[in-house]
Amino acid sequence: MINKAVIPAAGLGTRFLPATKAQPKEMLPIIDTPTIQFVVQEAVDSGIEDILIISGKGKRAIEDHFDRNAELEARLEEDDKNGLFNEIRHLAEMANIHYIRQKEINGLGDAIYYARFHTGNEPFAVLLGDTIIDSVMPVTQQLIDAYAQYRSSIVAVERVPKDKVSRYGIVGGKKISDTILDISEFVEKPGINEAPSDLAIAGRYILTPDIYKALENTPRGKNNEIQLTDALMYQTKREPVMASIIEGVRYDIGNKMDYLKTIVEYGLKRKEFCDPFSEFLRKKIKELDK
Ligand code: G1P
Repeated sequence: MINKAVIPAAGLGTRFLPATKAQPKEMLPIIDTPTIQFVVQEAVDSGIEDILIISGKGKRAIEDHFDRNAELEARLEEDDKNGLFNEIRHLAEMANIHYIRQKEINGLGDAIYYARFHTGNEPFAVLLGDTIIDSVMPVTQQLIDAYAQYRSSIVAVERVPKDKVSRYGIVGGKKISDTILDISEFVEKPGINEAPSDLAIAGRYILTPDIYKALENTPRGKNNEIQLTDALMYQTKREPVMASIIEGVRYDIGNKMDYLKTIVEYGLKRKEFCDPFSEFLRKKIKELDK
């Protein structure tokens, strides 16, 4: 039913300079795995194998990451490093990945508009390339399940503390079940007093093809960019748009503090690091408590 995913990954990553001067922020590693690999894996785990990455200047490393590397494969094979060999080979086979370049940085809405010829008349998933969500059921799958019921655009949302609403797209609407809201308001990065709620857009969407018409009618908004949030507001005035309160923990890799926390969390999750890393952290905390 949802066969295609779009991963916007064209942003400049200015919040992460100088690390992102010569490499895409989506390639920032969580220990040994680039952020965007988690995102592609989430799409695949949700049954989607056709992925369009919206790339841009300086983003070639993403294409290389999901491509074959014959020299590296030959070396790993020669050295009998079978586990690594399989892992590296799998990256080129895990999904059918296409690329298109956003020619100018004009915002998330403009980036999504580049996908119109690829997704055509089908609804599609959007997964932001700098956001990882750790959950039992992949969040994209949670949205696909909701789409099966409501057949409308659906955004993933999560509650955020009041002082963080200005960092996100915020929605307001009517609760129609424990986890679903019928949305009447979308505001991109509102001031604390303008926010319609504390429900923030969490970087995952299902969009119906009407979104392209909405984007054509969306003027530049916050930061003088074409905002997907504003296009969703346009859509809301014409047809139902839902929000699904997600089950999962979101990590915004574009934010330094979140990035640091992600590495600690994922370090603790890894079998080989769990014990020695926990011991290190306990020692550190004791030192801090002194
Ligand atoms: C984008 C969206 C915003 C959303 C956020 C989630 O903002 O415009 O609505 O809440 O992603 O991470 P960005 O983080 O690209 O500024």
